[in-house]
Parts: sequence; structure tokens; C-alpha cells
Amino acid sequence: MANDTATTVGKINPDVLAFTEGKDPILDLALAQSDCIGTAAHVTMLTRMNYTPAIFTEDQRRQVILALRDIIDEARRGEFTITAADQDVHLAVERRLTERLGDLGKKVHTCRSRNDQVAVDIRLHIRDELNALALELTDLADSLLTLGANHRTVPLVGRTHLQPAMPSSVGMWASGYAEMLLDDTFLLDAARRLNNLCPLGSAAGYGVPLPIDRQLTSNLLAFERPHHNVFYASCARGKDEAVLLAACGQIMLTLSRLAEDLILFSMPEFRYFTLPRDLCTGSSIMPQKYNPDVLELIRAKAALLQGYTTAANVILKAMPGGYNRDLQDTKELYMEGLRVTRASLRIMKLMADSLTVNPDACRAAFAEPGVFATDRALELVAAGMPFRDAYHQVRDHLEDLRGMDPDAVIAKKTHLGGTNGISFPALLARSGAYRAEIQASQAGIAEAFRKLLTV
Ligand code: ARG
Repeated sequence: MANDTATTVGKINPDVLAFTEGKDPILDLALAQSDCIGTAAHVTMLTRMNYTPAIFTEDQRRQVILALRDIIDEARRGEFTITAADQDVHLAVERRLTERLGDLGKKVHTCRSRNDQVAVDIRLHIRDELNALALELTDLADSLLTLGANHRTVPLVGRTHLQPAMPSSVGMWASGYAEMLLDDTFLLDAARRLNNLCPLGSAAGYGVPLPIDRQLTSNLLAFERPHHNVFYASCARGKDEAVLLAACGQIMLTLSRLAEDLILFSMPEFRYFTLPRDLCTGSSIMPQKYNPDVLELIRAKAALLQGYTTAANVILKAMPGGYNRDLQDTKELYMEGLRVTRASLRIMKLMADSLTVNPDACRAAFAEPGVFATDRALELVAAGMPFRDAYHQVRDHLEDLRGMDPDAVIAKKTHLGGTNGISFPALLARSGAYRAEIQASQAGIAEAFRKLLTV
């Protein structure tokens, strides 16, 4: 007992303390601002709830908010620290408030548990991160759309099984990945919606006896609404993270496939594209090397995201209802998942913005005539021949297709689904509308926080 470490919540064997807090003193630094904002909302609610005598007076609330603002500033400057004895950000903030405000600091944990506190901190953090990620996603989509629009008339051999299939275009290829990313926002929105619920006031997972106003807390923090059932609110931790990881995982799969195409099409044997040299890395022995390490790492990180998602799902799988410490281990997973996905979106935009398209190499790949076979067969169909007869006639005379002009073939198809039927303005408008929606969400949150921290 003599060697045990004194914490705010009792003495703990140092080995147990180290094992149970794990990386929290480091990871929780990312939650410092959220913890202060959540505390500001909680204390404001305790000040205004319908209860006499009031738990906090207006003047006490003012003092707490001012102290929280200082902690937020400290965190922004990178000067906020969490000690081993604090265990996590929640007790570190409470310690700071108590050092400064004495007994008043000791009151902030009224009607609250670390369980609902960490849940709300994580949701505030995820909300910011997902908005930032969504903007990075639209930035990349726009870059791909610009790349596609700039090279919309450059023919590209379309492939199935990696074998030449039908004429495509750089426009179709690039805007295809842009549209895939824009559709990945449906998953992101599911994660954003699920995340935008307020668990605060669920306390340990079973509510509190005093009539706290959870709707008010939710409003103050600009959440869509509070979780209705507080037991569910406490069980929702981990699910929120798992769903966001699944959404990020899908985005990473999109990026991984794009990366794979870029690696392939920039090989000297293809040379459709040239990767910007400053985005490639060299070899310590082979002087000629410019390697696509960035793209290979995106492929690997797509695998990591699947691993993080699986890890979060499996942590939840046999976990009983209510809070269990297992949940703490979903924290690093979601933080890493967001970090890796955001970094990948940004680096892929760099790639898309400075990629060189080599139209001659793209056209040269049409020298083998088979890629025109389906187009020719459907020409014969248009002239009245049954499709299967046309199919066999073209198959038996592939050499007749030699010399067809890929530029003319891709320009001719202007209908929806044709190489020349892609509406770049419509896709750009879609990403613009999504960006505006995200920015409106960010502005709403900033305004709510400004009000909350105003005394
Ligand atoms: N660091 C802890 C976590 O992430 C905070 C909650 C601790 N709650 C508890 N009942 N031990 O889960």
C-alpha cells in the first residue's frame, strides 16, 4: 500500500495504474478542448436547470467558464499536460479547476461520470474531425474532376481483368474515382449522423436522481438531440467509433484502388501517367529510381483501416451492456483511423494535382485493335445485324479493326454513360454543395461554442 500512487480517485498500485491508463495521458491530449467544452455545457446546464437551491450560481458558472477558457488556450498552445496520477484528461481538467477554484472546482463533476464525459468528448472530437475529413474528401474529388476535365478527350484503354476491353478516357477514369468518393460521403453522413447525438447526463450509464436537463446540454453543444435512453447512450460508445472506422475504411478502399491504378499506369511499360518526381522516393543503391512509395503506403493504410474496424467490432462483440473498460481501447483505433484517412486524402490530392498525363502513350495503347471490337459489333447491330451474328463476325475479323481512331470513338458517345457524356459541372456542383453543407455545420458549431464560452 505504501508504494501505491495517489490519484484523485484513490490510491492505486503503480503497475495497475500504468496498465489501466495505457496511452490515455497521451491520447487524451487530443480531447482536452472537447473536455472543457463539454464541462462548460454541463456546468451551464447545472446553473440553469429547474432545481433549488441552484447547484451553480451565475457567478460561479462565470468563474468556471473563465478557468476553462484558460485551459483551452493552454491546450491550443500545446502546454496542457496530463500526469500519470491524473490517469486521463477528465481528471486532469478537474485537477486544474480545483487548483484554481478550490471547492468550486470540486463541484463540476456533480451529476456526471467519466463514462458520459469521455463519450461526449469523443463525439465532439469526432464531429470536428469528420467535418475536416469531409472537406478534404471534396478537395480530392475536385482535383480528380479537374484532372478528368482537363484530359476528357484523351483516350485510355478501358480494362477488365486488366486486359484491354473497350475505349475509355482519362476523363471517365478520373471522374469515376471522384464520383466514388462523393458516394462515399453517404457512409460518412451515416457516421456523422450517428455521432451527432449527445450522451452527456447518462452519467455512469443509468442517469442521475436529480432532474438534470439533458436536452439543454445537447442544445448548448449543438448536437442534433440527446440519446433518449441513458443506458443505450453508454452502450453507444464504441459503436460510434466502429461505424466511423467502417466509413473511413470505405474511403480508404477507394483511395487504394486509385493508388493501384496510378502505380500500374505510371510503370514504364504503360507510361499513361508520370508521377511527379518530388512525390516519389529514391533508392539507396539504384540511382535511377523514382518509386511510388506514397501510393504503396496508401494501399497499406487501406488494410490498416480494415484492421482497426475489425478490432473495434470485436471489442464490442461480447461486451456486456453498460460501461466496460474495454471501450478505452477503441480510442486509439478511431484516432489512428481518422489520422490515416485524412493524411491519405491530402497526399492523394497532391498526387492528382501534379500528375502528368501522356496522351501519346495513352493513344499508343490502342494499337492492338481488339479494344474496338465491341464498338464495331454494335455498329453492325445499328445497321440491322442480330447481336450474336455481329459478335462472331467481328471476332473472326479482328484485324479489320486496325487503324480505328480512338479519339473519334470516344468523342461519339455523348449519351449518359458515354465517354463523352460525363457532366463535369454537375459533379463539381455536387461536391460544392457538400462542401457548403459541411461548412455550415462547422459555422453552427463554432457559434454554439462561442456562446457557451461567453460570460
Ligand atoms: N479513460 C477512460 C476511458 O477511456 C475514462 C472512463 C473511465 N471510467 C471508468 N469507469 N473507469 O474509458
